[in-house]
Amino acid sequence: MKVTVIGAGAVGATLADNIARKELAEELVLLDIKDGLAEGKAQDMMQTAALLGFDTKIVGSTNDYAKTAGSNVVVITSGIPRKPGMTREELIGTNAGIVKNVCENILKHSPDAIIIVISNPMDTMTYLALTSSGLPKNRIIGMGGILDSARFKYQLSQHLACSPADLNAVVIGGHGDTTMIPLLRFATWNSVPVIKFLGENQQKQIVADTMVGGATLTKLLGTSAWYAPGATGAVLVEAIVRDEKRLFTCCVSLNGEYGQKDICLGVPVIIGKDGWEKIIDFELNADEQAAFDKSAEAVRSMNDVLKTL
Ligand SMILES: NC(=O)c1ccc[n+]([C@@H]2O[C@H](COP(=O)([O-])OP(=O)(O)OC[C@H]3O[C@@H](n4cnc5c(N)ncnc54)[C@H](O)[C@@H]3O)[C@@H](O)[C@H]2O)c1
Repeated sequence: MKVTVIGAGAVGATLADNIARKELAEELVLLDIKDGLAEGKAQDMMQTAALLGFDTKIVGSTNDYAKTAGSNVVVITSGIPRKPGMTREELIGTNAGIVKNVCENILKHSPDAIIIVISNPMDTMTYLALTSSGLPKNRIIGMGGILDSARFKYQLSQHLACSPADLNAVVIGGHGDTTMIPLLRFATWNSVPVIKFLGENQQKQIVADTMVGGATLTKLLGTSAWYAPGATGAVLVEAIVRDEKRLFTCCVSLNGEYGQKDICLGVPVIIGKDGWEKIIDFELNADEQAAFDKSAEAVRSMNDVLKTL
């Protein structure tokens, strides 16, 4: 297995570190446009191999895509992150050009790669990667919903004073402060619905805090978070390279599922060696469906901005 991570910044480097520690690839290429950054981080990580006992070879590259040739999976983290007070959507002007250019370069050297998009605004960047590359839709996966679901479980665990590992909870819809939909009705604590243990105000608080989970961290850190995004990206790579058939919320191209078409949005999908293999399309209630439609409307208007760039 060969995996490439584009962007050796906070998220890309953390993701690479997780991939190496889990030995998800024989070779891992870290590429950045900044001179020496990827080489430096690759070498720094390689110096942990003797301590941590992993066998993945990490190669750094300053914008030399020849080094990425033959990658099975490529993860795009290149682009600017938001600053406190910014929305993810405000990044579109800069990041659209970067993501389009990166996709072209990747495919010249790794025509069969599965591409994971992390750069924000992620739903629109995933749509851009799909439409500009013309790749089969199962090979383009946006990472957002798995992270938002992990953040949802964190919020639930704080209120229930329980282990997040015993929780099952998903967030669907867009990966934005106002577009994501934490599905509280379906969340369980070892199969028991969590709403049985939570008052109405607590429920509202958990949903609200989940939705601004990223923004809260951006305010604290002065830039967007990286530990959970990096770890989440690696879990997604793992599901592909180990053909795990995991069920995750990922941003994928919809063709009528959940009542939407010509859009990439977060829904539960099976992830395995072919990328996203199947959408699990279950019936939402009227409020949830209305929230999903509203989320799609917001993401669609962001996708329309691509035409003006
Ligand atoms: N989808 C998610 O859940 C999620 C979570 C966190 C962050 N993000 C997004 O991920 C992106 C990266 O965040 P970060 O905190 O790592 O930012 P960062 O600034 O630390 O790193 C970004 C890196 O991309 C590099 N880069 C810029 N243009 C490039 C190009 N054309 N080719 C190769 N490399 C290029 C930069 O030099 C930089 O090192 C941001 O857009 C952020 O909003 C998404």
